Amino acid sequence: MTSISDKRNKKKIEHIAIIMDGNGRWAKSRGLPRIFGHRAGVKSVERTVRAAKELDIPYISLYAFSTENWKRPKIEIVGLMGLFRYYIKAKIDEICKEEARMRFAGNIKGLPEDIQRIIEDTEDRTKCYDKRQLIICLNYGGRQEIIDAVNSIIEDGTSAPITEDILREHLYLNDVPDPDLIIRTSGELRLSNFWLWQSSYSEFYFTNKYWPDFGKEDLEQAISAYYGRDRRYGKA
Ligand code: IPE
Ligand code: IPE
Ligand code: MG
Repeated sequence: MTSISDKRNKKKIEHIAIIMDGNGRWAKSRGLPRIFGHRAGVKSVERTVRAAKELDIPYISLYAFSTENWKRPKIEIVGLMGLFRYYIKAKIDEICKEEARMRFAGNIKGLPEDIQRIIEDTEDRTKCYDKRQLIICLNYGGRQEIIDAVNSIIEDGTSAPITEDILREHLYLNDVPDPDLIIRTSGELRLSNFWLWQSSYSEFYFTNKYWPDFGKEDLEQAISAYYGRDRRYGKA
């Protein structure tokens, strides 16, 4: 049997993006409030980030909160913001030790001010690392990202015609390669406004597992499925 690293030599996977879904249902199935699912989801984030490092994946992006998630009950939003505060602060030293660059994608200005400061500090402290990147998509929406890009092109005074390259340059993280693989947990088969521009040629992997149950083996399975795909990009 060919191992993951053997296969990797053929066509290297650079960026894995994950839609971490199913925290609420995980909690519900245990008779617990939804926030318990989000807490268990944080543990899963830690496990997955560790596994991605062990599997030598240079970019990992995690969809943590969408521009549509503000429609949830206030109590859940407050709980989630509390977790973001706690997680980013608690993990910063570890992330520095592991020499990973931590970045955020989304409408950051729409987040509570103290979280904005934590984000700035984290990005600043880790910007010196170039081996690996952990990207957290927070208050992220693919449509919003494209609208923000168009507005910043207008602000720059760029004249028509606008090209793909110009638009790409104005996305939130224009130097990050497009996701090779997008994983979604919990059995839902949709993008929910994630990486709209960047996912044009991504491969998709869906699992019925809820996010808090996702682990290294699942990541390995997804990677293995990816290496079995034939990416043709429109060619014959
Ligand atoms: C994903 O889990 C986490 C966030 C969207 C913040 P959900 O909270 O969407 O869990 P389900 O889909 O309701 O089970
Ligand atoms: C997508 O999950 C957003 C995140 C994982 C952060 P949702 O649970 O919000 O998506 P829908 O509502 O089922 O499409
Ligand atoms: Mg959901």
